[in-house]
Amino acid sequence: MRIPVIAGNWKLFKTIHESVALVQELAPLVANSTGVEIVVAPVFTALSRVADAVKGSEIKLAAQDCYWEEEGAFTGEVAPKLLKDAGCSHVIIGHSERRQYFGETDITVNRKVKAAIAAGLSAIVCVGESLMERESEQTFSVIEAQIQGSLAGLTEADFAHVVIAYEPVWAIGTGKTASDAQAQEVHVFIRSLIGRLFSQSVADALRILYGGSVKPDNVKGLMSQPDIDGALVGGASLKAESFAAIAAFNG
Ligand code: PGA
Repeated sequence: MRIPVIAGNWKLFKTIHESVALVQELAPLVANSTGVEIVVAPVFTALSRVADAVKGSEIKLAAQDCYWEEEGAFTGEVAPKLLKDAGCSHVIIGHSERRQYFGETDITVNRKVKAAIAAGLSAIVCVGESLMERESEQTFSVIEAQIQGSLAGLTEADFAHVVIAYEPVWAIGTGKTASDAQAQEVHVFIRSLIGRLFSQSVADALRILYGGSVKPDNVKGLMSQPDIDGALVGGASLKAESFAAIAAFNG
């Protein structure tokens, strides 16, 4: 009942030309993947050209961040409605790299999530603990605070436009994936927390993705866990072949 989402976060990689070439290579490879939502997130400058390139395919488009105001004197920012205008259906919000390097907090994530939903986008909201937090057994309290803060004030209806990505910071770009059981344990925690904070039906319908060194050879194990509803993929999404292999996890 929860349609899996496989999303590729291209981070700060690829020119417009390279981005278009990547989706053109990817589109035929994922043309037959049914029952899975496929999303790619190129850099801002490539969005509208990639949007043209994915027309008529199953591939959906995400931005990697947004601002919360619609317009104004906010030099350098991009509003959710402009992402929509560029052809996006999704936006990644609160990625750990933004939290770590760009001062993103649960408060700014929350504003961005609300603005994205108001503009008609789906928000892929990222949470995850650092290695130090995991080793000092703070994983659940950190995740709880991030979820509570990032999703504060959302209505049940808003959740139709929310996907959560659990990405343990120590597993991102390190080649160290959380074990299937480690990931499942946190996903169950997040789902039950959403049940307590919002409602059981919201929790049951919510897609919770895992992210952090997802590759073709570990995706099956992760996706076989009952509460893992997809993947947010960094490095392995930069090549059509490996991303398509991940999207074909159920094949
Ligand atoms: P990775 O990145 O797959 O390269 O670990 C995941 C992410 O940061 O979303």
